[in-house]
Amino acid sequence: MGKEGEGSPFEGRSLTVVNDFSIDEQLYLYEQTRELKRALGAGEDVGRFAINEPSMGLYLIFLEDSTRTKESFRNAALFHGVKVNDFNVAGSSFNKMESVTDTIKMLTGYSERSVFVVRSKLEGTCRWLDDAIGAYAARIGRKAPSFINAGDGKHEHPTQEFLDEFSFLEQKRWDRSAIHLALVGDLAHGRTVHSKADGLRIFKSVRVDLVAPRELALPAHYAERMAHNGFGVRQFDSIEDYVSQGDLADVWYFTRLQLERMGEEVLEKAPLLRRAVTFRREFLDKLGPETRFYHPLPRHREAPEIPSFLDDLPLNAWDFQSINGYYTRIVEIAMLQGKLGADFSGEPKRQPVYTDDFVEEVEVRQTKAHDYKVGIKPVENGIVIDHIGRGENIARTWDHIDKVRRIMKLNYRSSHGVYHSSSDSMYKGIVSLPDILSFDERQIKMLAAVAPGCTLNMIAGSRVRKKYRLHMPPRIYNLSVISCKNDACISNPRHFEQVRQEFYRAEKSSFVCRYCERPHDFGEIWDL
Ligand code: ASP
Ligand code: CP
Repeated sequence: MGKEGEGSPFEGRSLTVVNDFSIDEQLYLYEQTRELKRALGAGEDVGRFAINEPSMGLYLIFLEDSTRTKESFRNAALFHGVKVNDFNVAGSSFNKMESVTDTIKMLTGYSERSVFVVRSKLEGTCRWLDDAIGAYAARIGRKAPSFINAGDGKHEHPTQEFLDEFSFLEQKRWDRSAIHLALVGDLAHGRTVHSKADGLRIFKSVRVDLVAPRELALPAHYAERMAHNGFGVRQFDSIEDYVSQGDLADVWYFTRLQLERMGEEVLEKAPLLRRAVTFRREFLDKLGPETRFYHPLPRHREAPEIPSFLDDLPLNAWDFQSINGYYTRIVEIAMLQGKLGADFSGEPKRQPVYTDDFVEEVEVRQTKAHDYKVGIKPVENGIVIDHIGRGENIARTWDHIDKVRRIMKLNYRSSHGVYHSSSDSMYKGIVSLPDILSFDERQIKMLAAVAPGCTLNMIAGSRVRKKYRLHMPPRIYNLSVISCKNDACISNPRHFEQVRQEFYRAEKSSFVCRYCERPHDFGEIWDL
């Protein structure tokens, strides 16, 4: 049984990050939620939204604490008349070192079809489960389950993002032309903030003011993603700094200091940092009459960023925001189960296509192979890898050659060295492999990844017959010598989930982990 629903383009899909829904799909979710909320408010029949299928199981798997997300999903499932399973993490076989993958695999067998709502400290958990469990479900005659990410470490919280955007749209009376938003608080560790880098794209013009001291600043890759998405981004160290200039947002989004995710060093400074992002009475008269405050909640009861003197002011939008989680989650479940979506006519989510553009055949100008030697003998037949680490200093070029040899396991009769390029004075590494007549696709991909920019010369009868320039491949996967270096990623080998490693080429020659989406410098992904 496959993932595709017949009537609805959403059936069987998972929600692991905001971008799992295209912008049009997100707008469809907001429109449906708007209609559901209206109909419920008017006491009308909402039967068309409800699944009413007791054979469907919704599992709440919360490996981190939660109030709102868990309870709104539970209530949404009750609305749908499906079986709700609140998985007892504390009393489960996780305590016997069972993996998340094995646990979910087994639970998949208990219902005709399942939705797993998973909150975990490990980033990329739902993306991995979606990859891993689908084929298994087909083998045991179950529909592939849907996975909903209810917050994974510092990575994302997509369903929170959807309820946040829905709430902003309500404030804007459904005008999507522009938004000016201040993100205030722990932007470093707050996953709800990270999801905004994509979620805010539903607005045509986006201005984001980041208000946080350096220790809590938004990680560079999210700030870059915002800029890439066309957002105007400004930075301020504290609310005091922010309000001292006149241009203030009318949508303020506060986040809690994520004490549980901070390292010792930042934790020690928490009281001081908290002061920088806590709203004070003296700032009130700087705000425009339309300003609204949002917060994903919870807020710290002793030292809240939005103190309780604000609770009864028109500024308070956070209470309505949290209630919206119930409506948006009813619609999300309905979409992923194919109950809604048959009438969707917008732009669907496109799957990325990976081309083999990383191998470029180049013209062979100099057909004689007199440059390439093994010891003192010219290469008559074989492969010569040229331009390794071109432009690096001598020490790095030697390291680079060493890396190529170890990763590619080039344990053959051969020679190598660091040379000056003939066209300019840059250094480059060369490895000569006599008698090796070809590399297979996997080896070429590996070489392109470990030595992008190198050239591969195929030599026969002392002449260069073919020459290829290798660029960074768009995707590196299935190699035993690569791994994600983010300790909190589900794919990090220290978690023993046996995740197949996979990276995508991103901007600035970096590679992004398929699961936690953390960028890596290309040299960083290799274990050797
Ligand atoms: N409840 C939100 C989350 O789980 C925000 C927070 O905990 O501060 O990400
Ligand atoms: N907003 C949010 O995720 O709240 P909980 O942590 O209480 O689920």
